[in-house]
Amino acid sequence: MSVFKTDLLILGSGVAGLSIAIKTATSLPEKSILVATKADESESNTKYAQGGIAAVWDKLDSFEDHIKDTMVAGDYLSDQNVVKMVVEEAPNCMKQLITWGTDFDQNKEGEIDLGKEGGHSANRILHFKDITGFEVEKTLLEQVSKLPNIKLLPYHFAIDLITDHHLHKKHSQDSISCYGAYILNQKTNKIDTYLASSVVLATGGIGQVYAATTNPVIATGDGIAMAYRAKAKITDMEFVQFHPTALYQPGESPSFLISEAVRGFGAFLRNKKGERFMLAIDKRAELAPRDIVSRAINSELIFTGDPHVYLDCTHLDMPEFIKHFPNIYEKCKSLGINPESQWIPVIPAAHYLMGGIEVDTNGYSSIGNLFACGECSRTGLHGANRLASNSLLEALVFGNKIAQEIIQNRAHMIFNSKLLIPEWDEEGTMVPKEKVLISHNRKTIQNIMTDLVAIVRSNERLEKALDHLNYLFQDTEKAYEKSKLSPQICELRNLNAVAYLIVHQSMARKENKGAFFSLDNVEVKE
Ligand code: FAD
Ligand code: SIN
Repeated sequence: MSVFKTDLLILGSGVAGLSIAIKTATSLPEKSILVATKADESESNTKYAQGGIAAVWDKLDSFEDHIKDTMVAGDYLSDQNVVKMVVEEAPNCMKQLITWGTDFDQNKEGEIDLGKEGGHSANRILHFKDITGFEVEKTLLEQVSKLPNIKLLPYHFAIDLITDHHLHKKHSQDSISCYGAYILNQKTNKIDTYLASSVVLATGGIGQVYAATTNPVIATGDGIAMAYRAKAKITDMEFVQFHPTALYQPGESPSFLISEAVRGFGAFLRNKKGERFMLAIDKRAELAPRDIVSRAINSELIFTGDPHVYLDCTHLDMPEFIKHFPNIYEKCKSLGINPESQWIPVIPAAHYLMGGIEVDTNGYSSIGNLFACGECSRTGLHGANRLASNSLLEALVFGNKIAQEIIQNRAHMIFNSKLLIPEWDEEGTMVPKEKVLISHNRKTIQNIMTDLVAIVRSNERLEKALDHLNYLFQDTEKAYEKSKLSPQICELRNLNAVAYLIVHQSMARKENKGAFFSLDNVEVKE
C-alpha cells in the first residue's frame, strides 16, 4: 500500500472530470492533477451521448426561451438562478469546446446545424451526427494528453473518501472536510491512499441500479454512495429520468438508445394498431418532455399488454436520416430492422438521475474541500425532470465554475501534512470463494428497482422495495467486511446505497412532480 499526494484529485474521466482537469491544468501549470477512473479512460456515460448539447446559438432563439423550456421540463422545481446562469454560459462553453477541437455538424450554409429535442421550443442542439458524446470525450482526452501536469489513472477504483471520520478526531457534522480517497489499483490489487488539497467527485450516474438502462456498466452511483457514507447532503434522488425510446432488445444490457433527436427529426410514436397515441396526451405530442412521453408509453404498455411500442421513421427523408443518424441506422440494420420500411420497437429505460450530491453555484458540496460535478451532482438545474441535452452542458458550466474556484484559491492549496491519515486496513479479509453471490445480489437490486421503483410508484411498492433492500444491505455489509475488496463488491454496496436513497426520498415526496409519479399522490375526483 502506498501514499500519494497531489494538489487536485478528480474521480472520474467523463465530461465533468476531464473539463475541470483541462481548465485547472492550463491556468495552474505548477500544480499536479490526478484523474483516477475505474475503467478505460474513455468509458463513461459521456462517451455514449447521442443527441447533443443545448445552447442558444440561433439568432432567432433567446436565453429567455431556453430558461423557460428548462423550467417547464423541470416542472418548476429548478432553481431559476442556476438555470439562468447555465443557459447564459452555454454559448461560451460551446465556443470553448470548438476551440479545443470538437467538431459540430454544419448545414449547407456552413453554419452549425441545430437539432431539436423534446421540450425545446427552438432548434438549439449542437451535435456531431448521433455520436456527440464520443466526439466530446475524444476531444477532451486529446487536450488532456497535451497537459503534462495532468496524470490519468485508468483502472483505479475509488472506494471511499477520506474525511475527518478517518482521523478519529472530534468534529461537528457541519464541519467535515475531505482529504483524499482510498483507491483500489486494479492492476496491483492494492488499496492506496491518495491525499489532496481539493477533491472532485465526477463519477457520473446510477442507471445500473435498474435492469433496463441506457447507461453503461460503470454507472453504479459510486460517487453518490461515497458522499452519502461521508455524510454529504444528497437530495432529489426520487427524480430518475426514464428515456422514452430505448431499443427493445430483451436480454440486452445496456439498452441501445434511439436518440430523442430522431423524434425531433419528425419520427412518430405508434402503438401496435398504428395509432399515434401521443396526440391524445399532449399538444407537443412526441416532443413533450421525457417524463410525459415515458409515462404515456408505460400506460400504453399496461393497457395493451404489448411488450413495446414503435418509432416510425418510414415517412422521413431517408438519405438525410442516414446522414444525421448513421450509428442508429446501422444498429437497426444489424438487427434486421430497416428504418426505411419498418417501425423500430422501443421501450422506456432508466437514463439519468436529476438528484445527487447537493452543490452550490460554485460546485461545493456540503463537505469541505469536496466538489461534485456532472451527473453525480445536484445543482438545481434540472428540478424534477431534465430538459434534453442539458446534461453535458451542466457538466461544462459547473466544471468551469469549479476550475475557477480552485484557480482563485490556489494560495490555499496546501495540504496539512501534520494530519495523521491511516492507511487502508484490510486485516482479516479474504478473497471470497464464490463471486456469484455478488452478481446475483446486483441483479436482485436491479429487478427490485425495475419492478417496484420505476416510472409509476406507490407507497406499497416502495415499502416492499425497502424491505428487500434492507435484507440485501445486511447481506452485502457482512460480505464487504470480510472480503478482500474488488470493484464488484464495492459496486454492489454502492448500488444498494443508491437504491435505498431513491426509495427513501421517494417515500418523503407527497406530490407528483416531473419524473416522480406515485399512485398514492393522485387526487381521486368525486
Ligand atoms: P460520466 O461521463 O458517466 O463519467 C463518470 C466517470 O466516473 C467515468 O469515467 C467512470 O468510469 C468514473 N467512475 C465512476 N465511479 C468511479 C469510481 N468508483 N472510481 C473511479 N472512477 C469512477 N446528455 C446530454 O446532454 N446530451 C445527450 O445527447 C445525451 N445523450 C445520452 C445518451 C446516453 C446513451 C446516455 C447514457 C446519456 C446521455 N446523456 C446525454 C447524459 C450525459 O451523457 C451524462 O449525464 C453525462 O455524460 C455525465 O457526465 P459525467 O462526467 O458526470 O459522468
Ligand atoms: C438523446 O439523444 O435522446 C439523449 C439526449 C439526452 O439525454 O439529453
